[in-house]
Amino acid sequence: MGQPTEATAQEPARQGVDDRDKAAIIEVSSPVCYADKAVDAYMGFLDRDGLVAELNILLEAERAGAQVAAHLVAEAEPPELKDLAGVIQRDEIRWCKMLIGALKALNADPSQAVGGFYDQAMSIVDIEARFAFVNRGQAWVIRKLKALLPRIRDDQLHGALLAMLAAHDHNVTQAESTLAGLVRARNRPDAQAS
Ligand SMILES: [Fe+2]
Repeated sequence: MGQPTEATAQEPARQGVDDRDKAAIIEVSSPVCYADKAVDAYMGFLDRDGLVAELNILLEAERAGAQVAAHLVAEAEPPELKDLAGVIQRDEIRWCKMLIGALKALNADPSQAVGGFYDQAMSIVDIEARFAFVNRGQAWVIRKLKALLPRIRDDQLHGALLAMLAAHDHNVTQAESTLAGLVRARNRPDAQAS
């Protein structure tokens, strides 16, 4: 009989301490949240709105790239150029999906727009020249990502954008090599004679 009485006697005291602890936690937690945001800004990390804006710019660019690459797949005649356009198209679609997922994770509406890059690229009739223009667009994405990455605090998003940077870097190198190979093939003496 003694133990239950002791427990009953202690219960209100424990309850009281718990409530005060909870209140203290709530009081402390809000300033900490503000402090986190202040630290983010101080350290150069983007806030949520800045991040949404940057991700949407990339999404519009990648969507434009995917659509231009689809035209290159259909119109390019050299097999190596057609294959590379296919790789770029698949990659652009992949990054569109990643960026849409990242924006949704931020409770933001992914942009539905297609970047102005599409019209600029499609105004170039010559396929190799258009391909070279796409490569300059890919290089722009690389520069954009390099500037953006140090400002991303979230590890998962940082990793995804880093993979996007590596893939673009690889594709730009491949495209430069392929385009240069086509020029060399055209300039070979036997090619000119035939
Ligand atoms: Fe891209």
